[in-house]
Amino acid sequence: MGNDHRPNAGRSDALPCGPVNHDATQTGGAPGPAVRAEGLGRRYGSGEAAIDALRDVDIQFPRGEFTAVMGPSGSGKSTLLHCLAGLDRPTSGSVTIDGTALSGLSDRDLTVLRRSAIGFIFQSFNLLPMLTARENVALPLRIAGERDSDGRVDAVLADVGLADRAGHKPSELSGGQQQRVAIARALVAEPTVIFADEPTGNLDSASGHEILDLLRRAVDERGRTVVMVTHDPRAASIADRVVMLSDGRVVMDRAGMDADQVYEAVRTLDPA
Ligand SMILES: Nc1ncnc2c1ncn2[C@@H]1O[C@H](COP(=O)(O)OP(=O)(O)O)[C@@H](O)[C@H]1O
Ligand SMILES: [Mg+2]
Repeated sequence: MGNDHRPNAGRSDALPCGPVNHDATQTGGAPGPAVRAEGLGRRYGSGEAAIDALRDVDIQFPRGEFTAVMGPSGSGKSTLLHCLAGLDRPTSGSVTIDGTALSGLSDRDLTVLRRSAIGFIFQSFNLLPMLTARENVALPLRIAGERDSDGRVDAVLADVGLADRAGHKPSELSGGQQQRVAIARALVAEPTVIFADEPTGNLDSASGHEILDLLRRAVDERGRTVVMVTHDPRAASIADRVVMLSDGRVVMDRAGMDADQVYEAVRTLDPA
């Protein structure tokens, strides 16, 4: 699959070197796509009761691109994100992040790679309730044994608009603020790719909009790669590309869609 369908394809990520290829250097990764899946399958259970949540999925996510993943409930969106992020092991096929195949890694090496290369944002925020916002954001660095010598934690908290809430615990923050903490936590280690599974699903539309804006900026200003599951065509339309799943397969993969086009595609593929 080429990159030439993208609205910003003029940047030419396909080139292994050269002045326009800033993405790989920005993310510290190898050339090539940020994420690649080949022949990806995930079967739950066995025999008569087996469910193929993913079937032979081939997909790539170029660096510095924002992809929305859509599809009916049960179509395999979360399973795809979990397999791509190394939170679940596929039953067939391969996932490569930054040129490293996840299947070849020990649990320990997978954990190390996940820490440095992958951020994950959940619908339910998943912050640690006993820690402050600042402590939640600092956690990935602490676990990795890194010092916050350059003030990165406060800088990223300020960037998501929470400088004045850094000392608050999650219970003292609104849902939108909690999700902004989760985004700061995902950004702090400067990962290659950020996966977000319905990040606005628990939020009112104003807070949801702020979250989408932060994810868009993570791509545009920080060169991150974002893969976001959403049910909302308006949310999907801020992405560079929309991928639609149905019954564990990719049934649509299109760049540069506006909200009306996404609505139409959803109606066609999910008439219910
Ligand atoms: N841990 C699991 N055990 C058994 N079946 C599962 C499990 N997780 C997901 N599934 C099934 O796999 C399919 C895809 O689920 P999921 O990836 O959660 O879909 P989506 O996120 O698109 O709603 C569904 O049929 C779901 O019931
Ligand atoms: Mg899901």
